[in-house]
Amino acid sequence: MTKILMVCLGNICRSPLAEGILKSKLPQDEFIVDSAGTANYHVGSPPDKRSVAVANKYGININNLRGRQFEASDFDRFDYIYVMDSSNLSNVLSLARNEADIAKVNMILNEIYPGENFDVPDPYYSGNQGFENVYNMLNEACDIIVKKLI
Ligand code: 4NP
Repeated sequence: MTKILMVCLGNICRSPLAEGILKSKLPQDEFIVDSAGTANYHVGSPPDKRSVAVANKYGININNLRGRQFEASDFDRFDYIYVMDSSNLSNVLSLARNEADIAKVNMILNEIYPGENFDVPDPYYSGNQGFENVYNMLNEACDIIVKKLI
């Protein structure tokens, strides 16, 4: 099993969408994909309606996901940890215990633009177009991740 974790701030907008998109492209018997937030604001909450809607538009169901907070033990449970932005990156790295933990973490858009450290913009305060843009970025990044892993 290869295990991949998607991380954002709230675990209700970007990372559940990234989880749903990547899951839809990988065989379930070989890969585990999960998501978490660095903050605890939305623990137990379903994804934002706008993320649910854009996922649905592309045939992906993320209704049943629930928010949870990233914790240090996630470094043991996952092989790859993708963060959405630079603030997620510093929050996740602040919990890293050793070099092996650090080596698992990357910004997801570095899969498209290696080494550029571009952010997936937080769409929480934006309209539906923001969610559509985020969907497109994550979809492109996930296609590259799939090519690497399969
Ligand atoms: P996410 O978006 O990190 O993509 O899930 C956010 C969701 C909620 C909040 C911020 C960002 N919030 O401040 O509640």
